[in-house]
Amino acid sequence: MKYNIATVSGDGIGPDIIRETKKVLDCIGIKYNHQFIYIDKLAGGCAIDAVGNCLPGETVEACAKSDGVLLGAVGGPKWDHLPGNERPEQALLGLRKQLGLFANIRPAIVFTELADACPLRKESVDGGLDIMVVRELTGGIYFGEKGSCDTKLGPAAYDIEIYSEEEVRRIAAIAFDMAMKREKKLTSVDKANVLESSRLWRRVITELSVDYPDVELSHMYIDNAAMQLIRNPKQFDVIVTTNMFGDILSDEASMITGSIGMLPSASLGKGNFGMYEPIHGSAPDLAGRDIANPMATILSAAMMLRYSFGLYEEADEIERAVRSVLASGYRTADLMGPGMKPIGTKETGDRVTSFIK
Ligand code: IPM
Ligand code: MG
Repeated sequence: MKYNIATVSGDGIGPDIIRETKKVLDCIGIKYNHQFIYIDKLAGGCAIDAVGNCLPGETVEACAKSDGVLLGAVGGPKWDHLPGNERPEQALLGLRKQLGLFANIRPAIVFTELADACPLRKESVDGGLDIMVVRELTGGIYFGEKGSCDTKLGPAAYDIEIYSEEEVRRIAAIAFDMAMKREKKLTSVDKANVLESSRLWRRVITELSVDYPDVELSHMYIDNAAMQLIRNPKQFDVIVTTNMFGDILSDEASMITGSIGMLPSASLGKGNFGMYEPIHGSAPDLAGRDIANPMATILSAAMMLRYSFGLYEEADEIERAVRSVLASGYRTADLMGPGMKPIGTKETGDRVTSFIK
């Protein structure tokens, strides 16, 4: 089969990690007789430098026409002085919104090979940890009205958190479906003791739960959830939450797994199309130095094969290869521990492919 993949490397370590991921995909292509065609497109700071716009229309078009989008990372201090609506991060938000990718799936799995990298007490993650964070991605405070105004206390700025029932319903349905395929436990995270939008969120999710009698639904306030994730992470199976709470909780969940350099994500809409990216940022200080960990992006490509292309065996093979590299004791700097063998970005890609050949 032939697959068109829009590749948006972006900024910082983006090009380093996408390069290694293509290497792994090419290897899968040879082994399983698929053709992956990459359409490289600009977005983020590099697009600002090249064409004066963080998200050129032709990038959105190419992504929309592709079978799946693989994204590195965007942003960096070089563009921090720009006004909010011109910053590189806007490219990411624009892609999510314009491609209709309202569901962000962020699995936080503690690889047994990396159990020592988990900063929590050993008992907390004994027997493994597998949490799925389902984050609403195209609504809430990220996309609500924002602006500046004058107040009695002087100049002020605001961002509005707004959710329609339909936005909550569609992300909740994804989370319930996901829970059905897993341990059938869903925790909805909100701040319903304070926020009106959270009260709506909670009501809609409770209403929908009637359609999923086998799923055990619970509600948790965000502050408590942030604490529980550290106190007893094993109590969670699937977590569903808003755009901003999901942004925060998924970083926290990733740290429990040992390194943010390991966590992939899938952004999905209706149908099979999706955008796949690591949850970490562009780490400009590591860019081009052959030290960044490309595993989160390689694992994102595995998610693309599974969710968008239906290539389950191939996806499993990539994940197995990543584990084999870890099991052989190789570690990038972010995962380094006593007795481990240091490797760089490129060698990580090479070692993952060597387990696929
Ligand atoms: C993420 C990132 C983005 C977000 C930033 C870069 C806009 O933190 O994907 O989690 O907040 O969604
Ligand atoms: Mg984030």
